[in-house]
Amino acid sequence: MTVHFIGAGPGAADLITLRARDLIAAAPVCLYAGSLVPAALLGHCPAGARIINTAPLSLDEIIAEIARAHADGHDVARLHSGDLSIWSALGEQLRRLRALGIPFDVTPGVPAFAAAAAALEAELTLPGIAQSLILTRTPGRASAMPAAETLEAFAATGATLAIHLSIHRLSEIVTALTHTHGADCPVAIVWRASWPDQRIVRGTLATIEAAAAGGPERTALILVGRVLAAEDFAESSLYAPGYDRRFRPQSATSRFAGESE
Ligand SMILES: C[S@@+](CC[C@H](N)C(=O)[O-])C[C@H]1O[C@@H](n2cnc3c(N)ncnc32)[C@H](O)[C@@H]1O
Repeated sequence: MTVHFIGAGPGAADLITLRARDLIAAAPVCLYAGSLVPAALLGHCPAGARIINTAPLSLDEIIAEIARAHADGHDVARLHSGDLSIWSALGEQLRRLRALGIPFDVTPGVPAFAAAAAALEAELTLPGIAQSLILTRTPGRASAMPAAETLEAFAATGATLAIHLSIHRLSEIVTALTHTHGADCPVAIVWRASWPDQRIVRGTLATIEAAAAGGPERTALILVGRVLAAEDFAESSLYAPGYDRRFRPQSATSRFAGESE
């Protein structure tokens, strides 16, 4: 028996891995994390599967469901939205399962920030503009932020920011970032990236609040950074005609000559 923790992707039912689909199809028990996991994914469950929405359950109740499946010798497909490496409550579940000696594995998924970037048709790291992406959030009712992890500190790096779980704090975010980025810094908000009702609003730190007014207060990603509107950036050296590299040695005397296979 194994508990398969599975990244269920950002929303579109076909944005899961083949491995995820096959694991769901083979598991007689499926626990899924509420409204962010698309109902269509549950259609992969085998006939007669025990399917449980864990949104109203406590961690103790979730672990009790898993322990029951373990006692019955049933595999469990445990679905969380996006990827499991960020804001998924994976860590606390794995700690409990390790303590109970219940085996598990982890299958990655498409994170929301990647779906949002795809919706925007944007690369979030452009040469000379930004070479880092910071995945962050603002404090929530249930989750304080470590003291050093402030928006201002992240903004000081100039990296592209992907701000999660924070659409209801847009005004504070704009105020904090206007000091560091300038009012003309591009911002994009993507609600429910990859869902049929996906919505995109673009603007700058000066205009985004008005542009987003009246939008939903949930399931949105706020992306901030010069990459969102940059046209004047260098091409990467990797594909430059004269760039000497392992897969494209430029001469017989290149240090990479003969190494490409
Ligand atoms: C609890 S976190 C889960 C993140 C998820 N594990 C991931 O890999 O993206 C939920 C937050 O992720 C973002 N999010 C999740 N799905 C999204 C989507 N389809 N479109 C935009 N933002 C999304 C929102 O900021 C939302 O408040």
